[in-house]
Amino acid sequence: MSTCVPTELSGCAEKLIRGRRATRAFRPEPVPEDTMRRIFSLAGAAPSNSNAQPWQVEVVSGAARRRLAGALRAAHAERRTSVDFPYSEGMYAGVHHERRAAFGAELYGALGIGPGDHTARAAYASESLGFYGAPHAAFLFVHGSVHGEGAARSAADVGAYMQTLLLAMSAYGVDSCPQGLLSFYADTVRTELGVTGGKLLVGVSFGYADETAPVNRVRTERAPLQATTAFHE
Ligand SMILES: Cc1cc2nc3c(=O)[nH]c(=O)nc-3n(C[C@H](O)[C@H](O)[C@H](O)COP(=O)(O)O)c2cc1C
Repeated sequence: MSTCVPTELSGCAEKLIRGRRATRAFRPEPVPEDTMRRIFSLAGAAPSNSNAQPWQVEVVSGAARRRLAGALRAAHAERRTSVDFPYSEGMYAGVHHERRAAFGAELYGALGIGPGDHTARAAYASESLGFYGAPHAAFLFVHGSVHGEGAARSAADVGAYMQTLLLAMSAYGVDSCPQGLLSFYADTVRTELGVTGGKLLVGVSFGYADETAPVNRVRTERAPLQATTAFHE
């Protein structure tokens, strides 16, 4: 017998969480400032270890956004990458590698880029540094314990902040794309924004989706519940 009774709130949560998806082509209209303030204020309700809230968020719009996009593209062209959190292609193995490959095939298929076309993929990466045309981008820095033993926990807190932010955006009708790619140019972001502390975890481009763009029709699947979750009694 089922005891799970859907409520108005659970219905909203299903819609909100399942309705969010990564948007990779935006219209140029900006998000009104009061909407932005509400969204970022709501995102600040995210949980964190000991309520330390170890995030610092830098939001770029307008001229600052244009300058940063130019600097990121220049850094990309000159191969000036700098990461605060190590990354390697080899970090995915087994089922994670398979899921990544399936997603890549879906994405590049929607873009009309063939599997072995590394030139087109590199060109797309450069284009991505323009925030997929989004009028705004938020850069999520990890503060506090960024070295040694607490580092992973602080980064996890900022991950929780990120998802809360993405859902807050969805709730206010704002589309988004978290972009790990933006974190590959941490020094460029810091220099352009005059940021001195923290480590750059991820950037989030946001605005309103261009619904006519084929790339925005990409849909991702999720592993079944039993593949990721065990219930113990
Ligand atoms: C931390 C993080 C980094 C990501 N980096 C990128 C990125 O650099 N470029 C991109 O197009 N999508 C990026 N994504 C979006 C993922 O590809 C996307 O969330 C995933 O495929 C699931 O699809 P969905 O968000 O539409 O449900 C990133 C997502 C996360 C959470």
